[in-house]
Amino acid sequence: MSPDLTEHTITEAVQRSFDTATDDRFRQVFVSLVQHLHDFARDVRLTGEEWFAAMDFLERVGKVSSSTRQEVMLLSDILGFSMLLDRINQHAGSSVTSSALLGPFYVAGRPTADNGDDISDGVSGTPMFVTGRVVDERGEPVAGAHVDTWHSDGEGFYDVQQTEKLHDEFAMRALLTTDDDGRFWYRSITPRYYPVPTDGPCGEIMRGANRSVMRPQHVHFWLHADGYQSLITQLFYRDDPYINRDAVFADVESLQADFVRHEPGVAPDGTTVNVPFVTLDWTFVLSDSAE
Ligand code: BEZ
Ligand code: FE
Repeated sequence: MSPDLTEHTITEAVQRSFDTATDDRFRQVFVSLVQHLHDFARDVRLTGEEWFAAMDFLERVGKVSSSTRQEVMLLSDILGFSMLLDRINQHAGSSVTSSALLGPFYVAGRPTADNGDDISDGVSGTPMFVTGRVVDERGEPVAGAHVDTWHSDGEGFYDVQQTEKLHDEFAMRALLTTDDDGRFWYRSITPRYYPVPTDGPCGEIMRGANRSVMRPQHVHFWLHADGYQSLITQLFYRDDPYINRDAVFADVESLQADFVRHEPGVAPDGTTVNVPFVTLDWTFVLSDSAE
């Protein structure tokens, strides 16, 4: 007869139940997960009531999630887990542009655009001119790279959040392609800071912590090129009131950019703009080692 399990011996017993797993990685992940999960409960002396509350919370996170409402992803984001994984999987000290989380507002099937196009689709706001260059780790241009970009409007809303208000399905998002010199450029409107969704279960955590729910102004990019690792990232407005306290911890210093304000005049694309406008210029470095 096996001896009664104690608070300490149960961990090893559970871990041993994975000895029969045929996939080594599966076993490694679960043995470690059991260790940390059990240590966590012992560490905080978790009560049964607290665990029931946690299970109810997780159930509600699952129930509210759908293809358009990504509460599971939001939980990972607000706990810093998404950015932790980004950091774990990024080689320290490399010149490659830092990655930053995808977020819930990426949409597959977005329209393609030509360099120079206005991708705002008629949404009003302060004009923004984005110029970018995609290079490899030696600084050589990456021609033909696909640049997916998306951002909010001047009130902090994405197109998918206001389908009733907008004429078209897509606005402030497009897929561009770099020219022979690795360059891309487009016109849009300037985004603004916005809160992460707080009307679901994740809002309870943020209210409990009394913490900021805001994301500083940013533009998203997803770069893909044959022979290179694809890069999901964001560029943040360095002077934003919410910079360095992003609700999802993505606003790392190396991704903080100058969104430069200009008086009316000639824009980077040579057109004359008769209202104040903003420019954003960035060089993205891709890792040569293909996935
Ligand atoms: C975003 O960047 O769009 C985003 C990321 C995490 C939570 C909410 C929004
Ligand atoms: Fe965003």
